[in-house]
Amino acid sequence: MSSKGEKNLAIAFAAESKAAARNAAFAQKAQAEGYSQIARLFRAVSDAESVHARRYLMLMRGKIGSTEENLKTAFKNEITANEDEYPKLIKDAVEEGLKPIEKAFSQSRDVEDRHAELYKKAMNDMLSERETVYYVCQVCGYIAEDSPPENCPVCGAVKGKFKKVA
Ligand SMILES: [Fe+2]
Ligand SMILES: [Fe+2]
Repeated sequence: MSSKGEKNLAIAFAAESKAAARNAAFAQKAQAEGYSQIARLFRAVSDAESVHARRYLMLMRGKIGSTEENLKTAFKNEITANEDEYPKLIKDAVEEGLKPIEKAFSQSRDVEDRHAELYKKAMNDMLSERETVYYVCQVCGYIAEDSPPENCPVCGAVKGKFKKVA
């Protein structure tokens, strides 16, 4: 594929990924304000933008490998976020005295370490039959296995803030 084609796919992938996340946040807000129908619309559009994002990713050379390769890629991405990317963002937030942003970045950094741990476990367990249920903290993104904890170990959120992943 031409380098322009690759570049434009990457641009479209990033834009659609952002749109999906943004519309999901808009849906939560609409739900909280009591607009169920509008929340449903935002969720539907969010899902559709995810369809676009995945479609572009599939077209990008080498972005989707075998599951074994994808686990390795996903593990590496979490490590990079934990060790390189978030520390830089945290440093800037500290320097600028942006407390809430520093807290969010710091919790995300800690959570990426947990994500890496779960991927590592999955790589080791790939051929075993072990079945695990995951619960995601809706405040910080921490993932618990088997049952939600009383309090999130990263952000302290209560049990009710954990969402079971189907
Ligand atoms: Fe992560
Ligand atoms: Fe949390």
